[in-house]
Amino acid sequence: MSKQLILALSKGRILDETLPLLAAAGITPAEDLGKSRKLLFDTNLANVKLVIIRATDVPTYVQLGAADLGVAGKDVLLEHGAEGLYEPLDLEIARCKLMTAGIDGAEPARARRRVATKFVNVARRYYAEQGIQAEVIKLYGAMELAPLMNLADEIVDIVDTGNTLRANGMSPRELIAPISTRLVVNKAAMTMKHAQLKPLIARLTDAVGKRRASESAISP
Ligand code: ATP
Ligand code: PRP
Repeated sequence: MSKQLILALSKGRILDETLPLLAAAGITPAEDLGKSRKLLFDTNLANVKLVIIRATDVPTYVQLGAADLGVAGKDVLLEHGAEGLYEPLDLEIARCKLMTAGIDGAEPARARRRVATKFVNVARRYYAEQGIQAEVIKLYGAMELAPLMNLADEIVDIVDTGNTLRANGMSPRELIAPISTRLVVNKAAMTMKHAQLKPLIARLTDAVGKRRASESAISP
């Protein structure tokens, strides 16, 4: 197995918060990610390369060993299943909640509930655990529209400030899981490339700890 480490980063909102953490851990891309159409980047460290991919693809790359480690939201990991992955570190960024939500004041439908979401596996598991019959409808975005258009009785989606729900006359109902961004590592790589991975994970753990300490110093 090559001793080169490939780190898969989620593009989109997580990336902006991941790069400062990587920098604090001593890893910087060799070129400006924002100015390039490239997907594979060298870094200042000869043995570390970055791939920038869709958030939902990160667990797949890491699980199948195309990347040794990755950065992904817990929501994405829960939906994927994340078998064959270690999750050694909570990066404590992009915090939000995975929740059910519905139209303000409307009672959740009693019989078979129609639920729109992109998190179909999470939703099926959740409603089964609650003993609620649910017809889960896969959507790829703008979940908040589904109840307004009578496509669904309820949605399962990310909630942060609640602004998106409020703006659409909806409110959060039940918490499914608190979400933050996690570092994931391929299980085989953890053994085969332990000597390379261990200091990297230690530096990232340190960077997360330092950022937490500086934030709590600002807002005690
Ligand atoms: P894709 O474009 O690949 O479908 P996406 O649109 O879900 O992915 P982003 O919106 O960039 O990707 O979100 C990436 C991650 O950021 C999510 O998986 C989640 O962990 C977190 N996240 C999403 N929305 C919020 C939010 N409003 N506040 C904080 N974190 C969020
Ligand atoms: C996410 C999520 C919600 C919204 C929640 O959407 O899908 O719609 O954020 O955040 P809030 O509670 O602070 O309003 P995002 O802005 O990432 O858009 P997208 O998922 O449609 O790309």
